[in-house]
Order: sequence, then C-alpha cells, then structure tokens
Amino acid sequence: MTTIVTPTQPIDGQKPGTSGLRKKTPVFMEPGYVENFVQAIFDGIGGAEGKTFVVGGDGRYFNDKAIGTIIRMAAANGAAKLIVGQGGLLSTPAASNLIRKNKTDGGIILSASHNPGGPNADFGIKFNIPNGGPAPEKVTEAIFAATTSISEYRISDAAAPDLSVLGTSDVDGMVVQVIDSVADYAELMGELFDFDAIKALFAGGFTMCFDAMHAVTGPYAKAILEGTLGAAPGTVINGVPSPDFGGGHPDPNPVWAKELVDTMMAADAPDFGAASDGDGDRNMIMGRGQFVSPSDSLAMLTANATHAPAYAKGLSGVARSMPTSQAVDRVAADLGIECFETPTGWKFFGNLLDADRATLCGEESAGTGSNHVREKDGLWAVLLWLNILAAKGQSVAEISAAHWAKFGRNYYARHDFEAVEKAKANDLVDTLREALPGLVGQSFGPFTVAGGTNFAYTDPVDGSVSENQGLIVAFEGGSRFVIRLSGTGTEGATIRLYLESYTGPDGDLALPVDQALSEIVAVAYEMIGLTAKTGRSEPDVVT
Ligand code: G1P
Ligand code: ZN
Repeated sequence: MTTIVTPTQPIDGQKPGTSGLRKKTPVFMEPGYVENFVQAIFDGIGGAEGKTFVVGGDGRYFNDKAIGTIIRMAAANGAAKLIVGQGGLLSTPAASNLIRKNKTDGGIILSASHNPGGPNADFGIKFNIPNGGPAPEKVTEAIFAATTSISEYRISDAAAPDLSVLGTSDVDGMVVQVIDSVADYAELMGELFDFDAIKALFAGGFTMCFDAMHAVTGPYAKAILEGTLGAAPGTVINGVPSPDFGGGHPDPNPVWAKELVDTMMAADAPDFGAASDGDGDRNMIMGRGQFVSPSDSLAMLTANATHAPAYAKGLSGVARSMPTSQAVDRVAADLGIECFETPTGWKFFGNLLDADRATLCGEESAGTGSNHVREKDGLWAVLLWLNILAAKGQSVAEISAAHWAKFGRNYYARHDFEAVEKAKANDLVDTLREALPGLVGQSFGPFTVAGGTNFAYTDPVDGSVSENQGLIVAFEGGSRFVIRLSGTGTEGATIRLYLESYTGPDGDLALPVDQALSEIVAVAYEMIGLTAKTGRSEPDVVT
C-alpha cells in the first residue's frame, strides 16, 4: 500500500465556528473538501505521526464516507492508532469520554449537532483535544491557518476497514480498533449515579418517555434506560439512528421534539420526559405537563446535585454561557460557590473544568454537563434528573415549584431570526453596539436600562481574551436581553435574541412564559430596530 501525496489548493471558508466546521453536505462532498480540512487538522496540531485519535460521528448522511477518508488520511499521516465507534457511531460525549479514558491525542467528531442531516442538509467536522473537549480558539486558529496555506494532502490507497465488525485491523501500518459505541459510556454513567435508586424508581412504576429523535442516543438510551435501569420497553422512542434523522430536525426543543411534547402534555402523560439531539450532547427535560427550560434545569441540577454520588461532596463551582439565564447565579450565591459567565460554546468551559473551578456547566441551548467529560452531555443530564427525582421522591413539578419559591423565577425565551441577509444582521448589531453607552439610565416601557455591555471574556485560567461575544442590555431589577449572531448557521445570518424577565419569590411564579415575557419582547424588538432593519416582525423559532 502506498501513501499518495495529492497536490491541492486552499479552499475558502474552512473556518471552524462555535463548534467545528459546519457546512451544507454538498459542500463537504466536493472533491478535496474533507481531505483539505482533515489535513489542516493534522497540520494545525503539529502532525499526526505516532498519535492516537478517537473517530466517530452521529451517523448522519456522509458520516461513513468521511470516516473512511479520515482513516486513510490518518494512516498516510503516520498516526499509530484510531479508536472508532462501531458503524462509525459515537455520541459526542461518548467520544469525549474515550479520548480521556484512553489518554489519546484527541479526536475527530463528525456531526452538525442538532442541524438536519441528508444529502442537502448539514454536515460538520470538529477536532477535540486530549482533554476530550472541543479545540480552543488557539487550536482552531492554527487549523484555519493551515487551511489557507495548504498545498498537498496525504492519503493511503489502502481500503478502510469494515466498521460494522468489532475488533482490530491494520491500515497501512496504523491500528484501527472498532469498539462498542455504548459500553464505555454506560460504564461511566454507572460510576456517577445511584443506579440502584433509579432502578427502584422504575420498579415502583415510574414512567418515562425518551425521544432519541432518530439520532445517535437511541442505542445509548435503550441500553442504559431500558436495559440496565429497567425502564419499560418502549420508553425510548425514535431510537434507531438514521442518516437523515427520520426526515426531522434533531433539535430537542419544544418546536422540533413535538412528539415528546404532545406525549408529555397529554392527560395520561408519563412522569418524566426527555430528548436528545443529533450527536447526543443536548437535552430537553419535561415533567408531566411541564417544560423545564435549559437555564432552569441547570439551576435546579446545581441546587440538587449532591443527591448523585459523583457530586455528593459538593460542587467546586458552576459556569454558564453568557446568554443563559441568571437563574443558576442565585443558586451559586446561595451555595457559596463561584459562578462563571463565559462566551457561547462549550469550548470555553474546558479550562474551568480542567482547573476544577467549575463542576457543572450549562448553556441555554439545551446543553448541560459536568467534569465527567469535556462536552455537554444529553443523557447525563437525564440521568442526573432521574437520580434527583429518585432521591427526593418528588415530581418535576414539585422540584420546580420549590426552587422558584426559594430563588424566584427567571422567565426565559430565545427568539431566532434565521437566514437574515448578513449585511442587515451586521448592521442591526453594529447599530445597537454603538448605542449601548448612551442607553444607561433611559427608560423603555416599564424598564430602565442599568447597563449595556459588549461582552468580552478573560479566561481566568489562561488569561486568553475573547471579545465581541454578544451585546447585553440589562435592566434594573434583574431582567435583560442579549443579542448575538449564530456561529453555527449555514445560511445567511441567524440573529439570536435572548429574553429574560426576573420575578422574585413573592411574585407570580406560575405565569405562561410568553405572557411573562411580553413586555420585554416588545421593548427589545423596538430597541434593536428589528423590523426597520430586517423587515422581520416574528421570530422563526422560539425556544
Ligand atoms: C449554538 C448554541 C450554543 C452551542 C452551539 C453548539 O451556537 O447557541 O450554545 O454551544 O450551538 O451546539 P450558535 O449557533 O448560537 O453560535
Ligand atoms: Zn449537539
């Protein structure tokens, strides 16, 4: 077998965003597109010679072909070993665990997360570093720089092995180990949680619906929930991963996980509901007749985490992305632990977790996780909720009501405006940014502006600075809105407007969310000049 050195030229736009490189699938399928980017990963991290990597993806269309290319390129670049999930499948948190557990040099994860999959949908590739987490900016910048100066890539002409068969094979002198996609992850979950308590909960008749959304968590959820923990067969729905996620949009929110929402809102709803996304790192939590916002879920998990064995000694600290509601801040203050506000994207939590400054982390975009891996983890969040429900013997509704009665409630929603012309979106953000300093002290409807910030973050561990991470308009009394442009979209610009209205413990804690937010929505739309600048008056998606 030989290594073929293929001359190539830089391809525009191979710049990793919030979470790796995401493009339309046909773009990734263009000749040389995957090859250029994978070579740039190897070049950007100082070569692959003698290294071991984990490789796997969420099973979306083109996952198998791209993995075949990666295997042949890793061999040609001198890698020693690849650990690959069976069938090319690994959830993102499972990949993170394998990278850490095997002390590898990192991993390549193929996913466009919650974006749809298929020949005309989305695809993505990202590199994770040896701590198991997404590459930080200095690494993604080096990879991007390599994409702009690339002149050749290396690929073996050996055939990639059959990934459906467990075991070890040789590709041009490199070892490829195909492993069970679920086993290591399931073992880790068993170490973190009180599985006996959760088993007893299910044995006592507790009912649950887990929507795997035709994506990667199906096999994980079936093995752990129905297999190990004894949840009734059929607890996991849409549990077989498919290349186009059953034609759906594998995003666990009330819009896209409608089947679960309908089940949980029905008169005969199960006790607990949950869903996870394309690659298994996001989660949605529901009680009977109730949606728990991801920001509230983070706060409630933080307040109750000591019920799980892994966190029984308490949390070192907690971190949330800036647009995530401030609900968890109140819990951290009560517990007397540090609370960090980071830019959007899981990569910003890595240093805090490595340095043991934070134990739990979360994002409003359905991401929650802990120091057990370096990615957010959908099933982990579901299992922590189950552990807490089992230990407290309370329902989701009882836990939420008690939480709000103690801390007050941060009513919260995110409005997304998709496929906006980039120039118009940039103009809207630029205009607000320039206006920020002059807004303080001004009143809009019932709100008085307390602060206007162009959010920048200085990493407390390595001192690196990330600027222009979103605009915050904070009002007196704890309400606020945040605006930023998406870094994962693949079409035009997506404007994300995050709305948060705080009601203290003595206020009305049981309002419908849209009612509680109606005034701040109107004020925010007006202040950002939404309709004047974009022609839009309604969001495309509310989560
Ligand atoms: C979105 C979410 C962000 C998350 C990322 C990757 O990024 O908002 O919280 O970390 O996906 O899952 P965005 O499109 O907003 O840049
Ligand atoms: Zn995801």
